[in-house]
Amino acid sequence: MRVSAVLWVSAVLLLSEVHSWGFQNGVFHNSIWLEQAAGVYHRESRKGRYQLTYKEAKAVCKFEGGALATYDQLEAARKIGFHVCSAGWFDKGRVGYPIVKPGTNCGFGKVGIVDYGYRINKSEKWDVYCYNPHTKECGGVLTDQQRRIQSPGYPEEYQDGQICYWHIRVRYGQRIRLHFQDFDLEDDTSCLADYLEVYDSYDDITGFAGRFCGDDIPDDIISSGNVMTLKFLTDASVTAGGFQMQYIAFNASLLFHDT
Ligand SMILES: *[C@@H]1O[C@H](CO)[C@@H](O)[C@H](O)[C@H]1NC(C)=O
Ligand SMILES: *[C@@H]1O[C@H](CO)[C@@H](O)[C@H](O)[C@H]1NC(C)=O
Repeated sequence: MRVSAVLWVSAVLLLSEVHSWGFQNGVFHNSIWLEQAAGVYHRESRKGRYQLTYKEAKAVCKFEGGALATYDQLEAARKIGFHVCSAGWFDKGRVGYPIVKPGTNCGFGKVGIVDYGYRINKSEKWDVYCYNPHTKECGGVLTDQQRRIQSPGYPEEYQDGQICYWHIRVRYGQRIRLHFQDFDLEDDTSCLADYLEVYDSYDDITGFAGRFCGDDIPDDIISSGNVMTLKFLTDASVTAGGFQMQYIAFNASLLFHDT
């Protein structure tokens, strides 16, 4: 099943002037380039950005076998390039986010942990930063010329309540061909339960290319540039066999001979 990209055009147009940063629900953020560093990773609620109370944030990390990241763990991750422009809970009810690259739209031009301090009101809603050095394979930044991508646990069933992002980034001037080999996600008419989304973009804000669920194997998808983002989201019930696909980078100039 494929949800038409047309529905998303108006949203994408609104965003087209934003380059490195996306604007969604009134919140500027980029997506998660370095999905995980030094065991630290960012999660949002499956309802979207900034939807987790402190208690819920703790539950998200615990569900995956981890715990809230401490300030020191977040800073250690930041030092090796973990940069996320979304404020999240971390240990002891503190809120903030790690900034590597200064930007006017995010982090007030500062570099470091942008620290909102210990929140008195634990019902405030933010994202979350978890720590789990043994986290399950779920997403990542892929820069190889060719790589297989599988849903977590494949070929066993995937789990409920997951969000994984894969960011594919190949050499400048190259493009990416995504080829699906196996596909089996919970089916529903609008793909709202479990789904895989593909974006022809470095984030999940622009370049929507399709949302997939059910058990039809999607057609190949070819990027227009050298980046692509996949977002896999599962809800709280019903799982299935998951997916396996492969991407391969190719020199953009070769496409002329191809078609
Ligand atoms: C705490 O935060 C929640 C969510 O933002 C808000 O609805 C509530 O009014 C706040 N409580 C206090 C005492 O400020
Ligand atoms: C692709 O381009 C790179 C750099 O220009 C070049 O080194 C490489 O040989 C090319 N690959 C193919 C398959 O043409």
